[in-house]
Amino acid sequence: MKMKVGVFDSGVGGLTVLRELLRTLPQAHYSYLGDTARLPYGSKSSATVTRYAVSSSKFLVEQGAEFLVIACNTATALALNEIEASVNVPVVGVVTPGAEAAAALSRSRRVDVIGTAATIASHAYTKALSTWGIRTTEKACPLFVPLVEEGWIDHPVTEHVARIYLSELGLIPHGQREDNRADVLLLGCTHYPLLEPLLSRLLPDGVSLVDSAAATAQAVTQIMNVTPDDQAGSVRPPTGTLKFFTTDSPEKFRTLGAQFLGRAIPAVELISLPE
Ligand code: DGL
Repeated sequence: MKMKVGVFDSGVGGLTVLRELLRTLPQAHYSYLGDTARLPYGSKSSATVTRYAVSSSKFLVEQGAEFLVIACNTATALALNEIEASVNVPVVGVVTPGAEAAAALSRSRRVDVIGTAATIASHAYTKALSTWGIRTTEKACPLFVPLVEEGWIDHPVTEHVARIYLSELGLIPHGQREDNRADVLLLGCTHYPLLEPLLSRLLPDGVSLVDSAAATAQAVTQIMNVTPDDQAGSVRPPTGTLKFFTTDSPEKFRTLGAQFLGRAIPAVELISLPE
């Protein structure tokens, strides 16, 4: 039987999680919702994010999803419990899998976390990482989302902004921060995987990047008890169906989304959600 999986994000960033799911679970049927009309979630209050995330999750379940993946860091950090309480299907968010992957990788037991203002203010990653005895330093990087949305993935302005954020975090120049022994930088936002080449170039040797997308896909695969099939190492043709929904311009979703998904997006349905 093919599982129907709903994947939700505030926008197109969660397509990085769908891209990983298509690698590990290409046989599932996917419905993806990007709540682009109400993006960004990362600068909004907990009450607002919760309202938006709950209505989006309910929509996917109404579409037949039997399993929900909250591919948005902000929605997971602020509203996972409320989402779980509002639907009658299993829900997996990105924070725990991402934190677990970072904890497994860190030898120094120190992880630096970057994300939206709301995710960082929630300290969700710090709380999750503390269960593995990991100490964290957190930094909100609010300019990264609009820069990535603009397609400025490897642009001098983005590099300049990244240098400021990483130096405020004490990661560059190397050894600037006295107590800095973080050997993992956790990308706690759906948009940041697109900045991996830039960030890797700027970071000192010995600091690894972890993003929640791959870890979340692995977690979903384990929960569904399916052997991960990642031999090809690239996106394989899915054998299930793929449906895309957005709350704002389908054309913008298609164009921008293709960069995140790593493949063309055929059709996108415009929907409206209750407040
Ligand atoms: N999807 C959000 C996240 O992962 C980033 C975009 C937004 O702020 O809505 O935190």
